[in-house]
Amino acid sequence: MLLKKLSLINFKNLVQEILPFDEGINCFVGDNGTCKTNIIDSIYYLSMCKSSLPMSDGQCVRHGEQFFVIDGEYLNSAGRREQISCSFTRGAAKTIKRNGKAYERLSDHIGLIPVVIVSPADTALICDAAEERRRYLNSFISQLDHEYLATMIRYNSVLAERNKLLKTSADEQMLQIYDAQLVAAGEKIYAKRRETAEALHPAVAEFYALLSGDREQVELTYKSELESAPMAELLLSARERDRVNGFTTSGIHRDDLSFRIGGLPLRKYGSQGQQKSFIIALKLAQYRIITECFGETPILLLDDVFDKLDEGRVAELLKIVATERFGQIFITDCNHERMKRLLDASGCRHKIFDVNYGKVLQ
Ligand SMILES: Nc1ncnc2c1ncn2[C@@H]1O[C@H](COP(=O)(O)OP(=O)(O)OP(=O)(O)O)[C@@H](O)[C@H]1O
Ligand SMILES: [Mg+2]
Repeated sequence: MLLKKLSLINFKNLVQEILPFDEGINCFVGDNGTCKTNIIDSIYYLSMCKSSLPMSDGQCVRHGEQFFVIDGEYLNSAGRREQISCSFTRGAAKTIKRNGKAYERLSDHIGLIPVVIVSPADTALICDAAEERRRYLNSFISQLDHEYLATMIRYNSVLAERNKLLKTSADEQMLQIYDAQLVAAGEKIYAKRRETAEALHPAVAEFYALLSGDREQVELTYKSELESAPMAELLLSARERDRVNGFTTSGIHRDDLSFRIGGLPLRKYGSQGQQKSFIIALKLAQYRIITECFGETPILLLDDVFDKLDEGRVAELLKIVATERFGQIFITDCNHERMKRLLDASGCRHKIFDVNYGKVLQ
């Protein structure tokens, strides 16, 4: 998928921009706090209908303004043009339009413009609680499979109802109805997550070996209570505990992904550069799976990706993404000279955009 042109009005600190992009690597280079991440985030937004950062739509509107607009002109591998535009006005619902026609449900748009992002915020995937890793898996699988997103929404709403019931009457008949619905959705989610983790694992290990020059071995495994018993049994045997606690203590809402390096937990024993390399390997593996699923290369967003990596790993990363299996890429960096030197050495097609505070200098 190619993003040919991006237009922005009032998105975060950007006033108004029209940016024509290259098919290869597009780089945004400038000082801290200029607008590099904001541009990357606007591209992510057009694919996923939300910011990649924990920011509400209101917080994405430029201070003192009432609305923002992001508009992208895309070209897919079959030569089909797509115009996606997103507008949000304070106090109103946001609209996403595909070729001029507004979507009824935003979730219908997810997956049309596949995107993979590597961002400094990904450290949360390693350091924070399991919820972050479930969120990552959910958002990844949602791009591949519309039904998964609908099933996840159904599971969460039944779970909320069940928890409400447990806090009040815990009526047996109602519990049985909720359990049947939770099991139906939960088993599907479990199967899809397990399948995805199994596809990710060898690809993550392969990309990590390339990045590190085969220095360390890494592993990724999916952890779920459902490995030990079907969800119906788990719910039944946790019934009394759930009543006492007043919430559902078993199910796929407690699953996790485990990341290891040299057989040890990555969070504790991985250095900062090793953790960053793992995240990049994970995202490249995700990229490969999405490409295989759609026959369409996602847009790859690499925000501050060179930070913490040694020269060897940076060169390897550029070597990997320079192959023809990768499509259009957006990279940010603070140092123009370094960026130019690395790109010239990689031989990749590229375009460098120098940025200033809220402004792209073309
Ligand atoms: N809604 C908004 N209105 C105005 N400014 C905003 C808004 N949201 C964010 N900003 C500002 O945009 C500025 C640029 O942020 P951005 O994250 O793009 O910087 P950056 O170039 O990526 O910097 P770094 O190199 O430090 O990562 C920040 O100072 C931030 O406070
Ligand atoms: Mg930034």
